[in-house]
Amino acid sequence: MDVINTVPVEEVPVGTVTSGPLDDRRPEDEYLTIALTKGRLASQTMELLGRAGFYCEELGDKKSRKLVFTNEEQKLRFFLSKGPDVPTYVEYGAADIGVTGSDIIMEENRRVYEVLDLDFGKCRMCVAGPESARELLRHHEMIRVASKYPNIAKDYFYNRKHQTIDIIKLNGSVELGPIVELADVIVDIVETGSTLKENGLGVLEEVCPISARMIVNQVSMTMKAGRIRDFISRVRDAVNA
Ligand code: PRP
Repeated sequence: MDVINTVPVEEVPVGTVTSGPLDDRRPEDEYLTIALTKGRLASQTMELLGRAGFYCEELGDKKSRKLVFTNEEQKLRFFLSKGPDVPTYVEYGAADIGVTGSDIIMEENRRVYEVLDLDFGKCRMCVAGPESARELLRHHEMIRVASKYPNIAKDYFYNRKHQTIDIIKLNGSVELGPIVELADVIVDIVETGSTLKENGLGVLEEVCPISARMIVNQVSMTMKAGRIRDFISRVRDAVNA
């Protein structure tokens, strides 16, 4: 499934930032707000941002339960949220920028610009199940598919495989689906493959590769064009270094 709002950052129109009588904030005084995905992805993102020259010391304290962190000097504000909420914060402008997995961006399908592949958090979206399910897939039989990603699963089976399926939404430990005969197969992310292996399941088909991406609010991309372009370009250089 394609992310419909993916655009190379060079193609995003540059708006003029105006300061009317009711709004005399200068763009350099404004915070750039960045939504991070709690957990390992947030640590990897901060490590990458550090290499790009952006930092936030407060965020390093692992014991803290704080959710919002600021770097006054660089006018950056970071917050930690659940992955599936990151595109929501960015679409509504509560964050200018967000970092989360492409699996989540595809599943949520929010109106945001996807501007950068960060080249970490790599895994694969797969159809997995017991070996016996291979025949069901081959003959395009009506099957039950359990997934945390119902939109991705539907898109794959309906639009790419032209196969009618019954989707069952689960919220985690999806591998249980075929084991307890709730579903024939699952659509889920596979990183090392060990969860599948330890549960007697395997990859049957690959849907798409996954990695962490940077997304940007569509209005911020115009209203804070200079800062956001500079941010993206420094992070891009750090990714490519
Ligand atoms: C994810 C995914 C698989 C597992 C894959 O689950 O849903 O279960 O990781 O990783 P592996 O290939 O390295 O074994 P997660 O740990 O996010 O927990 P969840 O099942 O509760 O969603």
